[in-house]
Amino acid sequence: MQPIQDIDILDEDVDRAKPLAREATGQQMVYLETYGCQMNVSDSEIVASVLEEHGYGLTRDEAEADVVLINTCAIRENAEQKVRTRLGMLRAQKRDAKRDLTLGVLGCMAERLREKLLEQEKLVDLVVGPDAYRDLPRLLHEANESGQAAVNVQLSKEETYADVSPVRYASNGLSAFVSIMRGCDNMCSFCVVPFTRGRERSRPVTTILSEVAQLVEDGYKEVTVLGQNVNSYHFAQDGTAVSFPELLHRISLVSPELRIRYSTSHPKDCSDELLHVHRERPNICNYIHLPVQHGNTEVLQRMRRTYTRKEYLALIERARRICPGISFSTDIIAGFCGETEAQHEDTLSLMKEVRYDHAYMFKYSERPNTYAARKYEDDVPEEVKQRRLEEIITLQRGHALESNKQEVGRTHVVLVEGPSKKSDEQFFGRTDTNKGVVFDREDYQAGDYVRVRIDDCTSSTLLGTALERTTLQEAAQTETIVA
Ligand code: SAH
Ligand code: SF4
Ligand code: F3S
Repeated sequence: MQPIQDIDILDEDVDRAKPLAREATGQQMVYLETYGCQMNVSDSEIVASVLEEHGYGLTRDEAEADVVLINTCAIRENAEQKVRTRLGMLRAQKRDAKRDLTLGVLGCMAERLREKLLEQEKLVDLVVGPDAYRDLPRLLHEANESGQAAVNVQLSKEETYADVSPVRYASNGLSAFVSIMRGCDNMCSFCVVPFTRGRERSRPVTTILSEVAQLVEDGYKEVTVLGQNVNSYHFAQDGTAVSFPELLHRISLVSPELRIRYSTSHPKDCSDELLHVHRERPNICNYIHLPVQHGNTEVLQRMRRTYTRKEYLALIERARRICPGISFSTDIIAGFCGETEAQHEDTLSLMKEVRYDHAYMFKYSERPNTYAARKYEDDVPEEVKQRRLEEIITLQRGHALESNKQEVGRTHVVLVEGPSKKSDEQFFGRTDTNKGVVFDREDYQAGDYVRVRIDDCTSSTLLGTALERTTLQEAAQTETIVA
């Protein structure tokens, strides 16, 4: 899954944007910290909603919290390690300050590590898996009353939190995540997600559409539709089934001024129907995150990705034919079990063929109980993994710079998100193709769509000059006339 704003949600980065502080009212205050992917960020918004409903307050000040909840990620060993270090720190604070603090672990580490966290390491008072957030108020109560750890890591075949209105406590008020499904049935051999999040299930269409309509009413300008594999979205009601392309089309009709992105799309079922929806609907961004994982067919087979290198490249070609100018990002794993030097070279050559605008690149990290952990040996030495990863990163950086250089002189419609990192005098926004642009703010406002001419670039950012305010509809018409 790709990043939104500054949160590199694919990676194990922490979202330290905190809920707004509340007046002290004697109510129990909760501090939420989120690690991992966009799904976890979205889940924390569900947790915030469930807790608020039950009278808890949210705080951005850790020091005033009665309850600290860490929403965890288990995707790679270092993601888990980060959380354990953090939990150790919090546990020490709790002991030393002799504070009556309740410490809870939520999310993807909950199921796997519950025994360790509770018994061996005695780190936490609460362990709650991703499908048990409705049970949080009861569990918090139980932990407080009994002084014993409270646990619910049950995974569900139905839970989609369809009726829960997420509390978007860390949002910029412009971009929001909308979760459309949970879990994953794909069982890629390296991946722990099917174990941590359970079976795939889709959320009812009507609740998705009403959430999007509410976001539009609240002034949001962009939604990212979320699922581990959005292409498998399937919801049947009253004899009719809605698939992902159909759902996306319906979402795009909610407002012509709402930009729509989605993540993640599995290459095995990215259909032509979906590509045509991209083409037909101007407010669906001309951008797909399409994780390839590897460039060699034999490795892809061992990864259980169910497509070949040739099929993936054919999909890229088809997408470029149907949607000219479409931009791609990807995920790549270096040093998977048994990867030879020649197979690694295949990843590099695939990257040269596709020329991704952006990539998330990882060293393979063995995850307990996965098919790869059970059947294959994690036999690529650490220094070789590291060197191969560095080669992939260096190549990608070059591609990103070249791709950005080609943008110089072009004009893009940018959604203004807010001040740039470096200067309050400049704004940051994104193009339709998900490229970050910085330009002088003049009298533009966050939330405006602005036509920006690109004057210069680095490998990560475009630098431009704002030309005029516009709307998505106006921009689409101009494009049609030019075409
Ligand atoms: N559902 C998404 C991916 C979610 S996990 C998809 O299928 O594309 C995000 C990324 O983490 C994966 O795409 C993969 O590149 C990486 N990843 C997953 N398991 C990993 C592991 N064991 N070691 C290294 N990287 C891993
Ligand atoms: Fe993991 Fe594969 Fe599912 Fe993605 S599609 S979450 S990589 S099992
Ligand atoms: Fe996401 Fe990490 Fe879980 S990537 S699905 S939070 S294991």
